[in-house]
Amino acid sequence: MRWSDLNEALGSLPAWNDRIVIDGTNPVEFLGPDSPDAKDPANPLDAHGIKAIDLGGRSSSEVFRALVPGARVVKALNHLDVNVLAQPEACGGQRVQFYSGDDAHAKTQVCKVLEAIGPAGPAQRVKLLPSAAMRSSSGDSVKPGPMRSP
Ligand SMILES: NC(=O)c1ccc[n+]([C@@H]2O[C@H](COP(=O)([O-])OP(=O)(O)OC[C@H]3O[C@@H](n4cnc5c(N)ncnc54)[C@H](OP(=O)(O)O)[C@@H]3O)[C@@H](O)[C@H]2O)c1
Repeated sequence: MRWSDLNEALGSLPAWNDRIVIDGTNPVEFLGPDSPDAKDPANPLDAHGIKAIDLGGRSSSEVFRALVPGARVVKALNHLDVNVLAQPEACGGQRVQFYSGDDAHAKTQVCKVLEAIGPAGPAQRVKLLPSAAMRSSSGDSVKPGPMRSP
């Protein structure tokens, strides 16, 4: 789901009651070809037809988490183009999936989901790695989870 649709899609859902939510979004605006931003040399993402959304100094996970109160959020599946998931190897190496969150059990569960996709689906042989420890602008830290082999 696009970042711009999150409020509408998540705004009126019932309580999450500790459910795990995978956040696969990126905080970007999708630009039409005629948008001034699509040709703005100051936009480093213009070649991809997107523009970063100003989050006011917050991390995207902080913003997302506020939209799903009571859920356990794991960021995953947001960084590889869906079209390359079926191509686990590239340039002599292997693509990796990163996931991050501050709930160890939720991360383990999401890792299992990603691994389960493997033999039957596009994530086959994609190595799963925790994200490097990330520090948000407010100083929260997200600890890396266990490493998984392909
Ligand atoms: N495409 C990629 O390779 C890729 C890779 C990594 C991460 N992402 C991230 O994934 C997100 C989606 O990207 P995309 O390329 O898949 O966009 P997309 O093709 O525009 O798909 C957006 C999806 O969100 C659904 N949606 C929109 N508003 C909704 C609402 N109110 N309630 C329920 N569903 C709603 C749409 O449903 P309808 O079709 O019914 O409108 C559609 O299935 C973005 O945040 C992007 O940054 C994309």
